[in-house]
Amino acid sequence: MDQFRIQGGRRLNGRVTVEGAKNAALPLMAASLLTTGRMRLTNVGPLADIRNLGTLLERLGVAVHFDDDTITLNTSDESCTHAPYEVVKTMRASICVLGPMLARRRRAVVSMPGGCAFGTRPIDLHLKGLAKLGARIELDGGNVIASCDRLKGATIFLGGPNGSTVLGTANVMSAATLAEGRTVIEAAACEPEIVDLANMLNRMGARIRGAGTPRIVIDGVEALGGCEHRVMPDRIVAGTYAIAAAMTNGDIVLDDFPYDSLLAAVDHLAEVGVHVQKVDPNADESRCSVRVSCNRVLRPSIITTQPHPGFPTDLQAQFMALLALADGNSIVTEKIYTERFLHVAELSRMGAQIYRQGSTAVISGVRQLRGAPVMASDLRASACLVLAGLAAEGETVVSRVYHLDRGYSSMERVLKALGASIERVRESKAEPAEDAVPAILPSIRGAGLTARAAQGAVTSTPDA
Ligand code: EPU
Repeated sequence: MDQFRIQGGRRLNGRVTVEGAKNAALPLMAASLLTTGRMRLTNVGPLADIRNLGTLLERLGVAVHFDDDTITLNTSDESCTHAPYEVVKTMRASICVLGPMLARRRRAVVSMPGGCAFGTRPIDLHLKGLAKLGARIELDGGNVIASCDRLKGATIFLGGPNGSTVLGTANVMSAATLAEGRTVIEAAACEPEIVDLANMLNRMGARIRGAGTPRIVIDGVEALGGCEHRVMPDRIVAGTYAIAAAMTNGDIVLDDFPYDSLLAAVDHLAEVGVHVQKVDPNADESRCSVRVSCNRVLRPSIITTQPHPGFPTDLQAQFMALLALADGNSIVTEKIYTERFLHVAELSRMGAQIYRQGSTAVISGVRQLRGAPVMASDLRASACLVLAGLAAEGETVVSRVYHLDRGYSSMERVLKALGASIERVRESKAEPAEDAVPAILPSIRGAGLTARAAQGAVTSTPDA
């Protein structure tokens, strides 16, 4: 297992391009099950989760080819309908194959993804939505077994106790593209990744309106074809590097910054005293260049995570690291995953003053964090600890960075390019890790991917 060794206290300076969004790419890849046409996705990062889904799709008869930042997907055999536990357990988001496979193959057996490091992660809304479209659903042996004749359009309410469901909306919307008649999804997730998926499905021949609003209307079609699509930039990666710049009193430019998807985070950054300025005020806000700088004492803030366009849960941990250095008391309330606080104890080991009660944490800012050995527990908590390490005095060693490799492409290289002192080392020997070795998962051989990421593919836990 690899770990990051960070010498804190260096200001970040320089320019990086934000990579393609993992959480957009996963349902886009799963949409290959809706067609036998050829799909080509560009701007896809070499991430463990992307490869895991590639492996699963290959098991389901899709030829998957990785080439640099491009994936080509082409269904050649539609006879297999079983997404087995051994693959699904590596990544919770495997559930996104359920809707597309059911709609096209009329049967789908998908191992239940189970919970994750920060909660139970139910899929009841996915199943409710597909049942409304006419699917017969049973649970047996840890599997969801869904079957149908052609799906039939329906009006479906997807709201749950914590808002809508992102992958549930993706599943139901994708399935409804091939249903007979009209489907209306009420309380649909409004996340930008849903808009990206709807745009691609429409390019494949689907008829979807309203994506990005709580009401999505889908008029079913007989068949979908292939397409080419550039994956949207990753708003969480963009937000993470913006916070890194803020925490180190840095000054960086982020290209391909999805400004319009990050308004809540940008607003909170401004509130605490971080400047986030578009380099060209007239640029396309879906991917523009922004300068992020900070050279002042940070002010505290009150943050509540919410479904989009509210403050994203996937930036909560990183923002908490920033607030740990603010001049005063901040309050963070987590409304999406009430147990998503695994980073609190580790941040405290670095000198942060955080008091958590239930789904709320009170953070009393300190002048300086101190480097310490810390343990990553899930993807975003790991990012939070790396950010804390960049700002801390002394050395921080973050263990289990395979969590990070699931959602950030070579984070250490990006941060190094910005001037950070960060190194990837092997946990057991504490030696620098090799950049690439030839043995990678058989199904992705030839993809030009690093061994590191392949390790992540095998050992990761399913939190995203
Ligand atoms: N929920 C239900 N029933 C369901 C589904 C969800 O009650 O059937 C609840 C969940 O327990 C949670 C809330 O609804 O409280 C939202 O969950 P959602 O279904 O939207 O989460 P998801 O689609 O499984 C995606 C991202 C997560 C991100 C959430 C929320 C992917 C692959 N994952 O998960 O990303 O936190 O939306 O925005 O898109 C991450 O990238 O680190 C990550 C965890």
